[in-house]
Amino acid sequence: MTTLFDPVQLGDLSLKNRIVMAPMTRSRADAQDAPTDLHVEYYRQRATAGLIISEGTQPSLNGKGYCRTPGIHSATQIAAWRKVTDAVHAAGGLLVMQLMHVGRIAHPLNKAASAETVAPSAVTARGKMYTESGMLDFATPRALRTDEIPALIDEYRQATRNALAAGCDGVELHATSGYLPAQFLSSGSNQRQDAYGGSVAKRIRFVVDTLQAMIAEAGAGRVGLRICPGNPFNDLHDDDVAGTFAALLQAITPLKLAYLHLVYLPALPVDGLQLVQAHYQGPLIINDSLDFAKASDYIANGTTAAASFGRYFVSNPDLVERFRTGAELAPFDTTTLYADGPRGYIDYPPLPA
Ligand SMILES: Cc1cc2nc3c(=O)[nH]c(=O)nc-3n(C[C@H](O)[C@H](O)[C@H](O)COP(=O)(O)O)c2cc1C
Repeated sequence: MTTLFDPVQLGDLSLKNRIVMAPMTRSRADAQDAPTDLHVEYYRQRATAGLIISEGTQPSLNGKGYCRTPGIHSATQIAAWRKVTDAVHAAGGLLVMQLMHVGRIAHPLNKAASAETVAPSAVTARGKMYTESGMLDFATPRALRTDEIPALIDEYRQATRNALAAGCDGVELHATSGYLPAQFLSSGSNQRQDAYGGSVAKRIRFVVDTLQAMIAEAGAGRVGLRICPGNPFNDLHDDDVAGTFAALLQAITPLKLAYLHLVYLPALPVDGLQLVQAHYQGPLIINDSLDFAKASDYIANGTTAAASFGRYFVSNPDLVERFRTGAELAPFDTTTLYADGPRGYIDYPPLPA
């Protein structure tokens, strides 16, 4: 019987076990939007995971939405990420960088003065986000012109090149949680009538074209995609979630990605796992609210190649060892999730040897 502790091949990525660390924004980048020595230590501590997927990392100044999130668009950032990947590799781990462009989920106070808030259409998301001046409404985005979209896709291609230069083992396209790729996929936020909107085939095109640009740099075996069909987070709405994702999954299957990363929320009206099983062939990483028993079942019955865990990894750097020994899991402190500094970040101790 296959278990979480068995190795697995996802494209070009050879995982020593099937326990993946899910991407988690922790808001501790420095003033240059670069990771610091704290990141080096945080990711090094978690390198016993079969694969680490980094916190969402912006491919460009425009892609930034939240305070203190890192980027991968400057030489300083590349050099800083290199220290992270060197530490993870020295500890026997792998790190894929999650590329996250927030699109309209942004506020000018959280990004460079020269940066813009752009999205498929000039439709403001309802809701507020944290800024240094408190909780403020999301900005109204400027709709991208058709002739700007190739340059936007090229941001992801260049970011992929930069991630590889920083020693990352691959890249993951963040296409859920209401951020830019999800805004293109969904009819509520994508009201375009050009090659990137208007029909399902045109709404999925941005994600497919972006994946192809990432593949051109890294090869398909080092590119992953994260989705969560029907997730309404950040005011996302699509008139036909099942139709959109059936088309997307059929379109990406021939790309032969390293993996598809599914955030599976069974309570949603559309069953994301059924959609994936009906329309996608290729390695799967499944996520959300899994515990050891549930993830083990998914692996044993062949539902998924690997399982990712987010919150457990916050406070259990040695999660793999705790699963192996059945040890108790430490709870995490919610007040330090996004707080700057080492507290609640690198000070959760592993179990005594
Ligand atoms: C603090 C925190 C930050 C997160 N940041 C991201 C992110 O940057 N990108 C992303 O795709 N998901 C992000 N997520 C979602 C997690 O990857 C994961 O889907 C979620 O925590 C559910 O998995 P879990 O039940 O194992 O924690 C974040 C979750 C948490 C708790």
